[in-house]
Amino acid sequence: MSPYAHITGWGMSVPERILTNEELAKMVDTDDAWIVERTGIRQRYIASPQDTSASLATEAALQALKVANIKPSDVDLIIVSTSSPEHIFPATACLVQDRIGANKAGAFDLSAACSGFIYALNVATNAIQCGSIKTALVVGTETLSRMVNWKDRGTCILFGDGAGAFVLQAAEEPGGLLSAVMRSDGSGGDALSLPAGGSRLPTSLATVAEGQHYIHMNGREVYRFATRVMSQATLEAVEKANLKIDDINLLIPHQANQRIIEAAARNLNMPLERVVINVDRYGNTSTASIPIATVEAINEGRLHPGDRVVFVGFGAGLTWGAAVALWNGPFAGKRKVRPVSYRIWARLRSILRRLVRHIEGLIWGRYT
Ligand code: COA
Repeated sequence: MSPYAHITGWGMSVPERILTNEELAKMVDTDDAWIVERTGIRQRYIASPQDTSASLATEAALQALKVANIKPSDVDLIIVSTSSPEHIFPATACLVQDRIGANKAGAFDLSAACSGFIYALNVATNAIQCGSIKTALVVGTETLSRMVNWKDRGTCILFGDGAGAFVLQAAEEPGGLLSAVMRSDGSGGDALSLPAGGSRLPTSLATVAEGQHYIHMNGREVYRFATRVMSQATLEAVEKANLKIDDINLLIPHQANQRIIEAAARNLNMPLERVVINVDRYGNTSTASIPIATVEAINEGRLHPGDRVVFVGFGAGLTWGAAVALWNGPFAGKRKVRPVSYRIWARLRSILRRLVRHIEGLIWGRYT
């Protein structure tokens, strides 16, 4: 029988700097009351020049490894879901691999915008279930503040930075992801996009002057789409897991807008006590929002072993998806490992590997 992919570790990281609605009101023509009424957002975290998608991801990943009590070298696969990668390539996942010293892991980025964490969980689960890997690290990380037009009040009020991570491990007993649905509709791609910087519109003076490197969004269209698909995807995933909505202890939705979350809960007849909402403090951290909300729910004692939880999200693409999980927590036993101490070894290892590559270059250079 195929193994299950248990969620055995979790972590999150946000930058220090908080940007409040009052501060935003000094930057664009808006006010706290409007933002709270239309979105539920009161503040968000914004990356400092030192924070990057990889640095936030690394912190979240190390915490998740600590909770799971496993070494970075135990990780077989790292999937980093992000729409704000450090570069087009190399993948941000490879930067995280190097920084945590996961010397036996494959690593790649996954681009499905705010639905990315659900997609990544599903891909990692499938890799575990088919037996090709035993342990995966799934990270959602964003520094979308770098791509926001701080003069556009329609978008700059929404987004925040942060990262969240899960460790998934193979086990014979039932647990972890029980079902998932992934959907897309590329015909709606222009509703939420970052037009330039790829091969379609390479960076040029014109693309910069035209503001094509900022997030462009049709807010109303995205809102309509989101309210439709959130409950739809949840119901599909729940049915696929042979469960009913009443069997679900906790709904952890993508945190884009409080009104969208409340509409989904209403459509599902789910009381808000069973829904995690933290968009007021983080804004929309895109693919990081579901793992961040999960970590908070655990810390607040809202998620326990044996609980059935639904993760549901939507985003650019358009993409959407949902996953049902049976919550178990870390595997018991074993000597305590301290993955944070691996940071130093990872650094030394990285320096050494660069040095070896440099020396190889000198040697090969001499012979050619
Ligand atoms: N402050 C004050 N007024 C604002 C404003 C702001 N920050 N942003 C827009 N407005 C104005 C508009 O200009 C418009 O004015 P007008 O009627 O004079 O033209 C008015 O408020 C209503 O704009 P509208 O876009 O209809 O507002 P809305 O109720 O749809 O709320 C969003 C806007 C963006 C909050 C909402 O559409 C939304 O949340 N959409 C989903 C976005 C999302 O989740 N994106 C991420 C997907 S992962």
